Amino acid sequence: MNLHEISRNILKKRSIDDLMNTSKKSELKKTLNVFDLIVIGIGAVVGTGIFTIIGTAITGSAESAGAGPAIVISMILAAVACVFSALCYSEIAAMIPVAGSAYTYTYATMGEFMAWLVGWILMLEYAIGNITVASAWTGYFVQFLKGFRQYLPDFVVNFPIWLRYDYKTMSALCDANSWNIHDKIPYLFGHIPVAINLPAVVIVLLLTILLVRGVKESTRVAGIMVGVNMFMILSFIVIGSHYVKPENWTPFLPVAHPIQGVLMGTFLIFFAYIGFDAISTTAEETEKPQRDLPIAILGTLIICTILYVSVALVLTGIVPVDMIDIKAPIAHAMSYVGKDWFAGLISIGALCALTTVLLVYQLGTTRILYAISRDRFLPKSWRLIHKKYRTPHVMTWISGLVVIVCGLFMDLNISAALCNFGTFTSFVIICVAVLILRKTEPNRPRPFKVPFCPWFPVLGILICTILIAYSLKTLKTSSIYFIIWMVVGLLIYVFYGYNQKRLEEKKRSK
Ligand code: ALA
Repeated sequence: MNLHEISRNILKKRSIDDLMNTSKKSELKKTLNVFDLIVIGIGAVVGTGIFTIIGTAITGSAESAGAGPAIVISMILAAVACVFSALCYSEIAAMIPVAGSAYTYTYATMGEFMAWLVGWILMLEYAIGNITVASAWTGYFVQFLKGFRQYLPDFVVNFPIWLRYDYKTMSALCDANSWNIHDKIPYLFGHIPVAINLPAVVIVLLLTILLVRGVKESTRVAGIMVGVNMFMILSFIVIGSHYVKPENWTPFLPVAHPIQGVLMGTFLIFFAYIGFDAISTTAEETEKPQRDLPIAILGTLIICTILYVSVALVLTGIVPVDMIDIKAPIAHAMSYVGKDWFAGLISIGALCALTTVLLVYQLGTTRILYAISRDRFLPKSWRLIHKKYRTPHVMTWISGLVVIVCGLFMDLNISAALCNFGTFTSFVIICVAVLILRKTEPNRPRPFKVPFCPWFPVLGILICTILIAYSLKTLKTSSIYFIIWMVVGLLIYVFYGYNQKRLEEKKRSK
Protein backbone atom coordinates (compact mmCIF):
# COMPACT_ATOMS: atom_id res chain seq x y z
CA MET A 1 0.00 0.00 0.00
CA ASN A 2 1.46 3.34 -0.93
CA LEU A 3 1.48 6.59 1.02
CA HIS A 4 -1.05 8.18 -1.25
CA GLU A 5 -3.55 5.42 -0.54
CA ILE A 6 -2.91 5.58 3.20
CA SER A 7 -3.44 9.34 3.32
CA ARG A 8 -6.62 8.97 1.23
CA ASN A 9 -7.90 6.36 3.70
CA ILE A 10 -7.18 8.32 6.85
CA LEU A 11 -8.88 11.40 5.42
CA LYS A 12 -11.98 9.48 4.36
CA LYS A 13 -15.11 11.18 5.69
CA ARG A 14 -18.51 9.70 6.37
CA SER A 15 -21.22 11.56 4.57
CA ILE A 16 -23.83 13.16 6.77
CA ASP A 17 -26.59 11.24 4.95
CA ASP A 18 -24.80 7.99 5.67
CA LEU A 19 -24.49 8.94 9.35
CA MET A 20 -28.17 9.80 9.52
CA ASN A 21 -29.11 6.48 7.87
CA THR A 22 -27.06 4.50 10.36
CA SER A 23 -28.71 6.43 13.13
CA LYS A 24 -32.19 5.68 11.74
CA LYS A 25 -31.39 1.97 11.95
CA SER A 26 -30.26 2.44 15.54
CA GLU A 27 -31.50 -0.09 18.05
CA LEU A 28 -31.35 2.44 20.87
CA LYS A 29 -34.75 3.47 22.24
CA LYS A 30 -35.90 7.05 21.50
CA THR A 31 -37.35 8.05 24.82
CA LEU A 32 -35.72 11.30 25.96
CA ASN A 33 -37.51 14.65 25.90
CA VAL A 34 -36.24 18.18 26.56
CA PHE A 35 -36.83 17.86 30.30
CA ASP A 36 -34.83 14.60 30.42
CA LEU A 37 -32.04 16.31 28.48
CA ILE A 38 -31.84 19.27 30.87
CA VAL A 39 -31.78 16.81 33.76
CA ILE A 40 -28.89 15.00 32.05
CA GLY A 41 -27.19 18.38 31.46
CA ILE A 42 -27.52 19.70 35.01
CA GLY A 43 -26.70 16.23 36.30
CA ALA A 44 -23.46 16.26 34.31
CA VAL A 45 -22.47 19.82 35.10
CA VAL A 46 -23.24 20.45 38.78
CA GLY A 47 -20.81 18.40 40.84
CA THR A 48 -17.24 18.47 42.12
CA GLY A 49 -16.63 21.91 40.63
CA ILE A 50 -19.22 23.85 42.62
CA PHE A 51 -19.13 21.67 45.73
CA THR A 52 -15.35 21.30 46.11
CA ILE A 53 -13.11 23.02 43.56
CA ILE A 54 -14.72 26.43 44.18
CA GLY A 55 -12.89 26.51 47.56
CA THR A 56 -9.39 26.27 46.08
CA ALA A 57 -10.36 28.60 43.22
CA ILE A 58 -11.27 31.29 45.80
CA THR A 59 -8.49 30.80 48.34
CA GLY A 60 -5.67 29.65 46.03
CA SER A 61 -3.11 26.97 46.88
CA ALA A 62 0.65 26.58 47.24
CA GLU A 63 0.96 26.57 43.43
CA SER A 64 -1.81 28.92 42.37
CA ALA A 65 -3.14 32.37 43.24
CA GLY A 66 -6.76 32.53 44.45
CA ALA A 67 -9.51 34.67 42.89
CA GLY A 68 -11.13 35.77 46.19
CA PRO A 69 -14.66 37.20 45.78
CA ALA A 70 -13.70 37.89 42.14
CA ILE A 71 -14.38 34.18 41.58
CA VAL A 72 -17.64 35.59 40.24
CA ILE A 73 -15.66 37.13 37.35
CA SER A 74 -13.82 33.81 36.85
CA MET A 75 -17.16 32.02 36.66
CA ILE A 76 -18.51 34.40 34.06
CA LEU A 77 -15.28 34.10 32.05
CA ALA A 78 -15.47 30.29 32.22
CA ALA A 79 -19.10 30.43 31.09
CA VAL A 80 -18.12 32.68 28.19
CA ALA A 81 -15.39 30.18 27.24
CA CYS A 82 -18.08 27.49 27.17
CA VAL A 83 -20.82 29.42 25.44
CA PHE A 84 -19.17 29.56 22.00
CA SER A 85 -18.58 25.82 22.05
CA ALA A 86 -22.11 25.27 23.41
CA LEU A 87 -23.55 27.18 20.44
CA CYS A 88 -21.42 25.13 18.06
CA TYR A 89 -22.48 21.88 19.76
CA SER A 90 -26.09 22.99 19.38
CA GLU A 91 -25.76 23.74 15.68
CA ILE A 92 -24.15 20.41 14.84
CA ALA A 93 -26.17 18.27 17.26
CA ALA A 94 -29.42 19.60 15.77
CA MET A 95 -28.12 19.13 12.24
CA ILE A 96 -26.63 15.64 12.74
CA PRO A 97 -28.54 14.07 15.64
CA VAL A 98 -26.58 10.82 15.88
CA ALA A 99 -24.79 9.15 18.80
CA GLY A 100 -21.14 9.89 19.42
CA SER A 101 -20.98 13.66 19.87
CA ALA A 102 -17.74 15.35 18.73
CA TYR A 103 -16.45 11.99 17.48
CA THR A 104 -19.22 11.68 14.91
CA TYR A 105 -19.05 15.32 13.89
CA THR A 106 -15.31 15.04 13.28
CA TYR A 107 -15.87 11.98 11.10
CA ALA A 108 -18.17 14.01 8.92
CA THR A 109 -15.78 16.95 8.66
CA MET A 110 -12.15 15.90 9.12
CA GLY A 111 -12.04 12.22 8.26
CA GLU A 112 -11.41 8.88 9.86
CA PHE A 113 -8.09 9.41 11.64
CA MET A 114 -9.04 12.70 13.31
CA ALA A 115 -12.38 11.15 14.28
CA TRP A 116 -10.65 8.28 16.07
CA LEU A 117 -8.31 10.70 17.86
CA VAL A 118 -11.25 12.82 18.97
CA GLY A 119 -13.08 9.71 20.23
CA TRP A 120 -9.95 8.79 22.14
CA ILE A 121 -9.68 12.34 23.57
CA LEU A 122 -13.34 12.24 24.58
CA MET A 123 -12.55 9.18 26.66
CA LEU A 124 -10.29 11.47 28.70
CA GLU A 125 -13.15 13.82 29.33
CA TYR A 126 -15.72 11.19 30.20
CA ALA A 127 -14.03 8.10 31.59
CA ILE A 128 -11.06 9.85 33.23
CA GLY A 129 -13.32 12.68 34.46
CA ASN A 130 -15.41 9.99 36.12
CA ILE A 131 -12.39 8.73 38.02
CA THR A 132 -11.97 12.22 39.52
CA VAL A 133 -15.60 12.40 40.56
CA ALA A 134 -15.59 8.85 41.97
CA SER A 135 -12.62 9.76 44.17
CA ALA A 136 -14.32 12.97 45.34
CA TRP A 137 -17.49 10.96 46.08
CA THR A 138 -15.73 9.05 48.86
CA GLY A 139 -14.70 12.32 50.53
CA TYR A 140 -18.32 13.46 50.79
CA PHE A 141 -19.49 10.01 51.81
CA VAL A 142 -17.11 10.03 54.76
CA GLN A 143 -18.32 13.50 55.68
CA PHE A 144 -21.94 12.42 55.39
CA LEU A 145 -21.33 9.50 57.78
CA LYS A 146 -19.69 11.86 60.25
CA GLY A 147 -22.67 14.21 60.06
CA PHE A 148 -24.98 11.38 61.12
CA ARG A 149 -22.67 9.80 63.67
CA GLN A 150 -25.34 10.01 66.41
CA TYR A 151 -27.66 7.71 64.47
CA LEU A 152 -25.19 5.26 62.92
CA PRO A 153 -23.17 2.43 64.52
CA ASP A 154 -19.53 3.28 65.19
CA PHE A 155 -18.13 0.58 62.85
CA VAL A 156 -19.98 2.22 59.95
CA VAL A 157 -18.98 5.81 60.76
CA ASN A 158 -15.35 4.87 61.39
CA PHE A 159 -14.93 2.16 58.77
CA PRO A 160 -11.27 1.24 58.21
CA ILE A 161 -9.17 3.92 56.61
CA TRP A 162 -7.56 1.41 54.17
CA LEU A 163 -11.03 0.92 52.68
CA ARG A 164 -11.39 4.65 51.91
CA TYR A 165 -8.34 5.64 49.89
CA ASP A 166 -6.03 4.33 47.19
CA TYR A 167 -2.45 3.52 48.19
CA LYS A 168 -1.01 6.83 46.94
CA THR A 169 -3.52 8.93 48.86
CA MET A 170 -2.99 6.72 51.91
CA SER A 171 0.77 7.32 51.78
CA ALA A 172 0.26 11.09 51.48
CA LEU A 173 -2.19 11.00 54.39
CA CYS A 174 0.21 8.98 56.55
CA ASP A 175 3.05 11.38 55.72
CA ALA A 176 0.92 14.41 56.53
CA ASN A 177 -0.11 12.95 59.90
CA SER A 178 3.26 11.34 60.70
CA TRP A 179 1.62 7.90 60.86
CA ASN A 180 3.47 4.71 60.06
CA ILE A 181 1.72 3.37 56.96
CA HIS A 182 2.51 -0.24 57.98
CA ASP A 183 0.32 0.21 61.05
CA LYS A 184 -2.55 1.55 59.02
CA ILE A 185 -2.97 -0.95 56.19
CA PRO A 186 -3.07 -4.76 56.01
CA TYR A 187 -0.77 -6.77 53.71
CA LEU A 188 -1.92 -9.61 51.50
CA PHE A 189 0.42 -12.65 51.73
CA GLY A 190 2.59 -10.47 53.93
CA HIS A 191 3.79 -8.35 50.97
CA ILE A 192 0.98 -6.79 48.95
CA PRO A 193 -0.38 -3.62 50.60
CA VAL A 194 -4.17 -3.37 50.53
CA ALA A 195 -5.63 0.15 50.25
CA ILE A 196 -8.76 0.61 48.16
CA ASN A 197 -11.36 3.28 47.63
CA LEU A 198 -14.28 0.98 48.47
CA PRO A 199 -17.17 3.52 48.41
CA ALA A 200 -16.10 4.64 44.91
CA VAL A 201 -15.99 1.01 43.71
CA VAL A 202 -19.45 0.29 45.14
CA ILE A 203 -21.11 3.41 43.71
CA VAL A 204 -19.64 2.86 40.22
CA LEU A 205 -20.75 -0.81 40.33
CA LEU A 206 -24.30 0.17 41.33
CA LEU A 207 -24.51 2.82 38.61
CA THR A 208 -23.24 0.36 36.00
CA ILE A 209 -26.02 -2.07 36.91
CA LEU A 210 -28.55 0.76 36.71
CA LEU A 211 -27.32 1.86 33.28
CA VAL A 212 -27.50 -1.69 31.93
CA ARG A 213 -31.17 -1.72 32.91
CA GLY A 214 -32.00 1.29 30.75
CA VAL A 215 -31.50 4.92 29.94
CA LYS A 216 -35.00 5.99 30.90
CA GLU A 217 -34.72 4.32 34.30
CA SER A 218 -31.30 5.90 34.81
CA THR A 219 -32.48 9.41 33.95
CA ARG A 220 -35.44 8.94 36.29
CA VAL A 221 -33.04 8.22 39.16
CA ALA A 222 -30.84 11.10 37.98
CA GLY A 223 -33.93 13.32 37.91
CA ILE A 224 -34.64 12.66 41.59
CA MET A 225 -31.04 13.31 42.54
CA VAL A 226 -30.81 16.49 40.46
CA GLY A 227 -33.97 17.63 42.27
CA VAL A 228 -32.42 17.01 45.71
CA ASN A 229 -29.17 18.67 44.70
CA MET A 230 -30.92 21.72 43.21
CA PHE A 231 -33.07 22.03 46.34
CA MET A 232 -29.94 22.05 48.54
CA ILE A 233 -28.16 24.61 46.38
CA LEU A 234 -31.21 26.90 46.25
CA SER A 235 -31.71 26.55 50.02
CA PHE A 236 -28.05 27.44 50.51
CA ILE A 237 -28.53 30.58 48.42
CA VAL A 238 -31.77 31.58 50.20
CA ILE A 239 -30.75 30.74 53.79
CA GLY A 240 -27.15 31.85 53.26
CA SER A 241 -28.14 35.25 51.84
CA HIS A 242 -29.42 36.23 55.30
CA TYR A 243 -25.92 35.89 56.70
CA VAL A 244 -24.07 37.79 53.97
CA LYS A 245 -21.88 40.65 55.19
CA PRO A 246 -21.09 42.90 52.21
CA GLU A 247 -17.78 43.94 53.80
CA ASN A 248 -16.52 40.39 53.09
CA TRP A 249 -16.64 41.27 49.39
CA THR A 250 -13.91 43.88 49.78
CA PRO A 251 -11.27 43.77 48.48
CA PHE A 252 -13.14 42.22 45.57
CA LEU A 253 -10.07 41.49 43.46
CA PRO A 254 -7.16 39.65 45.10
CA VAL A 255 -4.67 42.33 46.21
CA ALA A 256 -1.38 40.53 45.49
CA HIS A 257 -2.05 38.92 42.08
CA PRO A 258 -5.36 40.16 40.68
CA ILE A 259 -4.94 38.95 37.09
CA GLN A 260 -3.30 35.62 37.91
CA GLY A 261 -5.90 35.01 40.63
CA VAL A 262 -8.85 35.55 38.32
CA LEU A 263 -7.25 33.56 35.46
CA MET A 264 -6.32 30.63 37.67
CA GLY A 265 -9.84 30.78 39.10
CA THR A 266 -11.23 30.60 35.55
CA PHE A 267 -9.01 27.64 34.74
CA LEU A 268 -10.00 25.73 37.89
CA ILE A 269 -13.71 26.54 37.85
CA PHE A 270 -13.92 25.53 34.19
CA PHE A 271 -14.17 21.98 35.56
CA ALA A 272 -17.53 22.99 37.07
CA TYR A 273 -18.96 23.64 33.60
CA ILE A 274 -17.75 20.49 31.90
CA GLY A 275 -20.59 18.18 31.02
CA PHE A 276 -23.17 20.14 29.03
CA ASP A 277 -21.80 18.49 25.89
CA ALA A 278 -22.85 15.11 27.36
CA ILE A 279 -26.36 16.03 26.22
CA SER A 280 -25.35 15.70 22.59
CA THR A 281 -24.11 12.14 23.14
CA THR A 282 -27.69 11.00 23.60
CA ALA A 283 -28.94 12.45 20.29
CA GLU A 284 -30.05 9.06 18.98
CA GLU A 285 -32.21 8.46 22.04
CA THR A 286 -33.95 11.85 21.84
CA GLU A 287 -37.52 12.11 20.57
CA LYS A 288 -37.16 15.49 18.80
CA PRO A 289 -33.42 16.12 18.62
CA GLN A 290 -33.56 19.11 16.23
CA ARG A 291 -35.66 21.18 18.59
CA ASP A 292 -34.66 19.78 21.97
CA LEU A 293 -30.86 19.51 21.80
CA PRO A 294 -30.08 23.24 21.38
CA ILE A 295 -32.68 24.23 24.00
CA ALA A 296 -31.24 21.73 26.47
CA ILE A 297 -27.57 22.59 25.86
CA LEU A 298 -27.98 26.37 26.13
CA GLY A 299 -30.58 26.10 28.90
CA THR A 300 -28.23 23.99 31.03
CA LEU A 301 -25.39 26.46 30.60
CA ILE A 302 -27.53 29.45 31.53
CA ILE A 303 -29.13 27.75 34.57
CA CYS A 304 -25.75 26.61 35.87
CA THR A 305 -24.07 30.00 35.42
CA ILE A 306 -26.84 31.75 37.38
CA LEU A 307 -26.63 29.15 40.16
CA TYR A 308 -22.83 29.24 40.35
CA VAL A 309 -22.60 33.03 40.51
CA SER A 310 -25.27 33.11 43.24
CA VAL A 311 -23.52 30.39 45.26
CA ALA A 312 -20.19 32.21 44.91
CA LEU A 313 -21.67 35.55 46.03
CA VAL A 314 -23.32 33.98 49.07
CA LEU A 315 -20.26 31.90 49.99
CA THR A 316 -17.78 34.80 49.80
CA GLY A 317 -20.33 37.07 51.49
CA ILE A 318 -20.66 34.73 54.49
CA VAL A 319 -17.10 33.50 55.05
CA PRO A 320 -13.99 35.72 54.84
CA VAL A 321 -11.71 34.44 52.06
CA ASP A 322 -8.93 33.23 54.36
CA MET A 323 -11.41 31.13 56.37
CA ILE A 324 -13.03 29.27 53.48
CA ASP A 325 -12.71 25.50 53.80
CA ILE A 326 -11.26 23.89 50.66
CA LYS A 327 -12.62 20.37 51.20
CA ALA A 328 -16.31 21.19 51.70
CA PRO A 329 -16.64 24.97 51.34
CA ILE A 330 -20.42 25.16 51.06
CA ALA A 331 -21.20 22.81 53.94
CA HIS A 332 -18.55 24.57 56.04
CA ALA A 333 -20.12 27.99 55.33
CA MET A 334 -23.30 26.78 57.02
CA SER A 335 -21.37 25.44 60.02
CA TYR A 336 -19.62 28.81 60.14
CA VAL A 337 -22.94 30.52 60.86
CA GLY A 338 -23.96 27.82 63.33
CA LYS A 339 -26.22 25.77 61.04
CA ASP A 340 -24.59 22.37 61.54
CA TRP A 341 -27.74 20.42 60.67
CA PHE A 342 -27.88 22.19 57.34
CA ALA A 343 -24.20 21.45 56.70
CA GLY A 344 -25.09 17.74 57.06
CA LEU A 345 -27.95 18.10 54.58
CA ILE A 346 -25.62 19.82 52.12
CA SER A 347 -23.36 16.77 52.07
CA ILE A 348 -26.44 14.76 50.95
CA GLY A 349 -26.95 17.30 48.13
CA ALA A 350 -23.28 17.02 47.19
CA LEU A 351 -23.47 13.21 47.13
CA CYS A 352 -26.51 13.40 44.85
CA ALA A 353 -24.71 15.86 42.57
CA LEU A 354 -21.58 13.71 42.31
CA THR A 355 -23.64 10.57 41.73
CA THR A 356 -25.50 12.13 38.82
CA VAL A 357 -22.22 13.36 37.29
CA LEU A 358 -20.95 9.77 37.51
CA LEU A 359 -24.14 8.44 35.94
CA VAL A 360 -24.21 10.87 33.04
CA TYR A 361 -20.49 10.52 32.31
CA GLN A 362 -20.76 6.77 32.18
CA LEU A 363 -23.74 7.09 29.90
CA GLY A 364 -21.67 9.41 27.67
CA THR A 365 -18.68 7.04 27.66
CA THR A 366 -20.74 4.09 26.50
CA ARG A 367 -22.56 6.06 23.79
CA ILE A 368 -19.27 7.37 22.33
CA LEU A 369 -17.69 3.90 22.48
CA TYR A 370 -20.84 2.59 20.78
CA ALA A 371 -20.41 4.97 17.86
CA ILE A 372 -16.67 4.21 17.58
CA SER A 373 -17.24 0.47 17.60
CA ARG A 374 -20.04 0.81 15.02
CA ASP A 375 -17.39 2.31 12.73
CA ARG A 376 -15.18 -0.77 13.35
CA PHE A 377 -12.41 0.99 15.27
CA LEU A 378 -13.23 -1.14 18.31
CA PRO A 379 -14.40 -4.77 18.43
CA LYS A 380 -17.95 -5.50 17.26
CA SER A 381 -18.67 -7.63 20.34
CA TRP A 382 -18.42 -4.47 22.47
CA ARG A 383 -21.60 -3.02 21.09
CA LEU A 384 -23.88 -5.98 21.71
CA ILE A 385 -27.29 -4.76 22.76
CA HIS A 386 -28.93 -6.40 25.76
CA LYS A 387 -31.90 -8.49 24.57
CA LYS A 388 -34.24 -7.42 27.32
CA TYR A 389 -33.13 -3.89 28.22
CA ARG A 390 -31.91 -2.84 24.74
CA THR A 391 -28.85 -1.07 26.13
CA PRO A 392 -25.19 -1.60 25.11
CA HIS A 393 -24.46 -3.71 28.18
CA VAL A 394 -20.97 -4.96 27.23
CA MET A 395 -19.78 -1.41 26.66
CA THR A 396 -21.42 -0.23 29.88
CA TRP A 397 -19.57 -2.89 31.86
CA ILE A 398 -16.26 -2.14 30.14
CA SER A 399 -16.47 1.57 30.94
CA GLY A 400 -17.58 0.86 34.51
CA LEU A 401 -14.68 -1.51 35.09
CA VAL A 402 -12.15 0.94 33.60
CA VAL A 403 -13.26 3.60 36.10
CA ILE A 404 -13.09 1.10 38.97
CA VAL A 405 -9.64 -0.24 38.07
CA CYS A 406 -8.06 3.14 37.25
CA GLY A 407 -9.75 4.74 40.26
CA LEU A 408 -7.87 2.28 42.46
CA PHE A 409 -4.50 3.79 41.65
CA MET A 410 -4.95 7.06 39.77
CA ASP A 411 -4.25 10.42 41.39
CA LEU A 412 -7.35 12.65 41.59
CA ASN A 413 -5.60 15.88 40.53
CA ILE A 414 -3.99 14.31 37.50
CA SER A 415 -7.25 12.77 36.34
CA ALA A 416 -8.97 16.18 36.73
CA ALA A 417 -6.30 17.91 34.63
CA LEU A 418 -6.46 15.19 31.97
CA CYS A 419 -10.22 15.61 31.88
CA ASN A 420 -9.72 19.35 31.26
CA PHE A 421 -7.30 18.68 28.41
CA GLY A 422 -9.78 16.34 26.78
CA THR A 423 -12.61 18.86 27.12
CA PHE A 424 -10.68 21.88 25.80
CA THR A 425 -9.55 19.87 22.79
CA SER A 426 -13.02 18.59 21.97
CA PHE A 427 -14.40 22.16 22.24
CA VAL A 428 -11.81 23.42 19.74
CA ILE A 429 -12.65 20.62 17.34
CA ILE A 430 -16.38 21.29 17.53
CA CYS A 431 -15.84 24.96 16.65
CA VAL A 432 -13.59 23.96 13.71
CA ALA A 433 -16.23 21.45 12.55
CA VAL A 434 -18.91 24.16 12.44
CA LEU A 435 -16.68 26.32 10.23
CA ILE A 436 -15.92 23.39 7.89
CA LEU A 437 -19.56 22.33 7.60
CA ARG A 438 -20.68 25.88 6.80
CA LYS A 439 -18.35 25.66 3.77
CA THR A 440 -18.92 22.05 2.71
CA GLU A 441 -22.65 21.73 3.45
CA PRO A 442 -23.96 25.29 3.07
CA ASN A 443 -27.46 24.18 2.05
CA ARG A 444 -28.13 21.47 4.61
CA PRO A 445 -31.03 22.44 6.90
CA ARG A 446 -29.81 23.86 10.19
CA PRO A 447 -32.63 24.00 12.75
CA PHE A 448 -30.26 26.01 14.92
CA LYS A 449 -27.47 28.31 13.69
CA VAL A 450 -24.54 29.80 15.63
CA PRO A 451 -25.04 33.58 15.46
CA PHE A 452 -22.20 35.79 14.19
CA CYS A 453 -20.48 32.94 12.37
CA PRO A 454 -17.46 32.78 11.80
CA TRP A 455 -16.65 35.12 14.71
CA PHE A 456 -18.23 33.08 17.50
CA PRO A 457 -16.61 29.74 16.50
CA VAL A 458 -13.27 31.55 16.01
CA LEU A 459 -13.56 33.11 19.48
CA GLY A 460 -14.33 29.63 20.87
CA ILE A 461 -11.20 28.23 19.20
CA LEU A 462 -9.03 31.10 20.49
CA ILE A 463 -10.23 30.98 24.10
CA CYS A 464 -9.95 27.19 24.39
CA THR A 465 -6.54 27.12 22.70
CA ILE A 466 -5.23 29.72 25.15
CA LEU A 467 -6.59 27.63 28.03
CA ILE A 468 -4.93 24.47 26.64
CA ALA A 469 -1.60 26.28 26.16
CA TYR A 470 -1.83 27.77 29.66
CA SER A 471 -2.56 24.42 31.31
CA LEU A 472 0.08 22.56 29.30
CA LYS A 473 2.64 25.06 30.60
CA THR A 474 1.40 24.97 34.19
CA LEU A 475 0.65 21.29 34.68
CA LYS A 476 3.78 19.37 33.73
CA THR A 477 2.88 15.88 34.96
CA SER A 478 -0.52 15.77 33.37
CA SER A 479 0.91 17.17 30.11
CA ILE A 480 3.17 14.11 29.95
CA TYR A 481 0.24 11.79 30.68
CA PHE A 482 -1.74 13.58 27.97
CA ILE A 483 1.00 12.95 25.41
CA ILE A 484 1.27 9.28 26.46
CA TRP A 485 -2.51 8.93 26.10
CA MET A 486 -2.37 10.34 22.57
CA VAL A 487 0.49 8.01 21.56
CA VAL A 488 -1.42 4.97 22.85
CA GLY A 489 -4.45 6.09 20.85
CA LEU A 490 -2.32 6.46 17.75
CA LEU A 491 -0.90 2.94 18.16
CA ILE A 492 -4.36 1.40 18.56
CA TYR A 493 -5.45 3.09 15.34
CA VAL A 494 -2.34 2.07 13.41
CA PHE A 495 -2.38 -1.56 14.53
CA TYR A 496 -6.09 -2.21 14.90
CA GLY A 497 -8.61 0.40 13.76
CA TYR A 498 -7.07 1.20 10.39
CA ASN A 499 -6.92 -2.47 9.36
CA GLN A 500 -10.40 -3.29 10.63
CA LYS A 501 -11.82 -0.42 8.65
CA ARG A 502 -10.13 -1.62 5.45
CA LEU A 503 -11.40 -5.18 6.03
CA GLU A 504 -14.92 -3.80 6.40
CA GLU A 505 -14.57 -1.80 3.17
CA LYS A 506 -13.41 -4.93 1.34
CA LYS A 507 -16.39 -6.91 2.64
CA ARG A 508 -18.80 -4.19 1.57
CA SER A 509 -17.37 -3.92 -1.93
CA LYS A 510 -17.72 -7.70 -2.57
N1 ALA B 1 -18.78 19.60 35.90
C1 ALA B 1 -18.58 18.37 36.56
C2 ALA B 1 -18.26 18.55 37.99
O1 ALA B 1 -18.10 19.67 38.43
C3 ALA B 1 -17.53 17.57 35.89
O2 ALA B 1 -18.17 17.57 38.69
